Amino acid sequence: MNLFRGAAPMVLVCNLACNNAEVEPPPPLLEARTGAALTFGTPKEDCAECHPQHVAEWSISPHAYAARDPVFHAMVRMGQDQTKGKLGQFCIQCHSPPALALGTAPVYADGTGKFRQDTDQIPPLEREGVSCDVCHSITEVIQPVNARAVLTPNGVRRATIQDPVENSKHPSAYSPLHKESLLCGMCHAVTNPKQAKIEETFTEWQASSFAQPGGRTCQDCHMRAYEGQAAKDGPTRMVHRHTFVGVDISLLPPDEFPGYDELRALTEELLRESAEVTVTPQPEQKRIQIRIKNLTGHALPSGATAERQMWVELIVTTSSGAVVFESGTLDPLGDLRDPNPSHSTMPGTDPQLIYYGQQLLDDPKVDDPNATLPVKNVSMPWQANAARNFMIPVDGEDQRHFDLSALPAGTYNVSFRLLFRSFPQYFLRILEDVAALDPAVKTRVPNMVMVEENLSYQAP
Ligand code: HEC
Ligand code: HEC
Ligand code: HEC
Ligand code: HEC
Ligand code: HEC
Repeated sequence: MNLFRGAAPMVLVCNLACNNAEVEPPPPLLEARTGAALTFGTPKEDCAECHPQHVAEWSISPHAYAARDPVFHAMVRMGQDQTKGKLGQFCIQCHSPPALALGTAPVYADGTGKFRQDTDQIPPLEREGVSCDVCHSITEVIQPVNARAVLTPNGVRRATIQDPVENSKHPSAYSPLHKESLLCGMCHAVTNPKQAKIEETFTEWQASSFAQPGGRTCQDCHMRAYEGQAAKDGPTRMVHRHTFVGVDISLLPPDEFPGYDELRALTEELLRESAEVTVTPQPEQKRIQIRIKNLTGHALPSGATAERQMWVELIVTTSSGAVVFESGTLDPLGDLRDPNPSHSTMPGTDPQLIYYGQQLLDDPKVDDPNATLPVKNVSMPWQANAARNFMIPVDGEDQRHFDLSALPAGTYNVSFRLLFRSFPQYFLRILEDVAALDPAVKTRVPNMVMVEENLSYQAP
């Protein structure tokens, strides 16, 4: 199915105004620019016949999940309600550019005056999220933040094959932009309407050694090249994996989104390549040293870091198996025991916790340098005007210690694990309480193992 909207030729540009939640109501998002018609294909119906492998890979990817994610829908419900609709099309612009272009996700006040945007009820084409034609229609990235790009969906499909075989369905065009990280950067850097930098994957990469000549692009790591066919009946050539493995996995029931187990396995595999860790007991100093080196092309974690959790679990036992020290183990509701009472039922009982992620803040000083009110922690991206990062920088490493001076002399066994999960349990409980998130969602978030190591040492 190709959608042509009226006769008006259109190019999709999400201009700055549509990112500004203070503007009300949301301004028009489509700008007529060239003599092209707006076209988005449906992957299975329009592409799979000739590109079965690409469609199969993309179908299990986070890009295919972007507008189906129940957590996304719940956050939009909460965000539109809290901001009285001022979020406008902000969330949709990256998670379903077709819905932005086609205007099928209106923000409205319901009978009770509550602001809503029913992203869970958008039509099937829009539900495809970051679909084939979103990426293969990009002709220009205006600025690598907040989807500031030009899409020219005039039927021409653009990628990096220089000598594409002709076909009956679409013209093909060579696009050097599709080899560049910049293409990904249009969406993989998010500044919220209050100017808080809530995702910086592209900017982190850009400032790193990976962006230097001989470095590695997003595509090099997330779209690995392999020998195959770009199209059925086409020649064998180098093609690129479209599973876009990262850390997002489907939290829908296994029969409602494909690749439930497969993407979990691929994600765990990627996570196991993400860090190099050394665990060194230093008995003389009565401590254990942990060094974690970031092997990715951006911070670790990166992206939606306010929701991500990476942490160290360390359990020390005696030779008879009694636990004498533990950190990074969870409270009865499955949360880290960090000091924040809205996160854990046992706040502050893990003073040596080593945790990586991001804290979102509402800092009165950002708006008024003379403000004296305290900085508040907030949970949701639209509430923040600042953020505090606890990530391992790109090209960098972090070195920490567990102080074990409380332990008497003896032989100890140490179990070390570096763990990762896409969402903390408390975050999903907030969405259950205020935005009707299905409680089963939180049972589908695995705690993935990145590195594990067992050792023993003699304490003097
Ligand atoms: C009738 C078959 C057919 C259909 C349907 C089809 N394609 Fe293609 N497409 C091809 C062939 C053949 C090539 C060239 C492959 C080659 O040279 O190895 C191609 C090439 C491409 C390229 C690479 C362009 C370049 O120069 O790098 C992209 C991207 C692409 N198609 C996307 C799509 C998308 C998206 C859809 C669905 C909306 C689609 N195609 C539907 C047959 C088809
Ligand atoms: C050197 C290889 C490498 C490069 C280059 C790279 N990545 Fe990654 N990326 C990884 C690995 C490994 C992970 C899994 C660990 C993690 O979450 O950071 C990952 C994770 C991610 C995640 C999930 C992050 C999270 O923690 O939620 C996103 C999003 C992502 N990458 C996007 C990108 C983009 C966009 C680029 C280019 C600007 C890029 N990556 C470049 C290796 C790479
Ligand atoms: C997030 C953006 C993105 C999405 C979504 C996407 N592609 Fe691609 N695709 C690319 C990029 C980038 C390349 C070129 C990669 C390179 O050269 O390193 C590419 C390459 C291709 C090629 C050329 C052969 C190859 O593998 O290099 C075809 C064909 C293709 N894509 C088809 C599809 C189809 C069909 C879909 C949907 C099922 C799709 N793409 C979804 C970004 C995307
Ligand atoms: C139109 C916006 C858009 C573009 C362009 C785009 N992405 Fe994404 N990407 C997203 C969104 C939105 C998500 C989150 C989907 C979800 O899980 O809900 C995502 C998720 C991902 C993930 C998975 C992250 C995770 O935590 O698992 C990876 C990896 C990724 N993108 C890589 C790329 C690469 C590589 C490119 C460029 C070739 C690219 N993206 C281009 C919007 C985009
Ligand atoms: C500029 C593009 C952009 C905008 C705007 C945007 N996102 Fe995202 N979103 C992304 C990308 C890229 C990722 C993947 C990052 C990662 O996986 O770490 C993502 C990831 C997510 C995830 C995690 C997906 C998962 O299942 O793990 C959720 C939930 C989400 N976004 C919700 C929202 C909400 C709600 C809004 C509006 C307040 C929003 N996003 C606005 C680009 C965007």
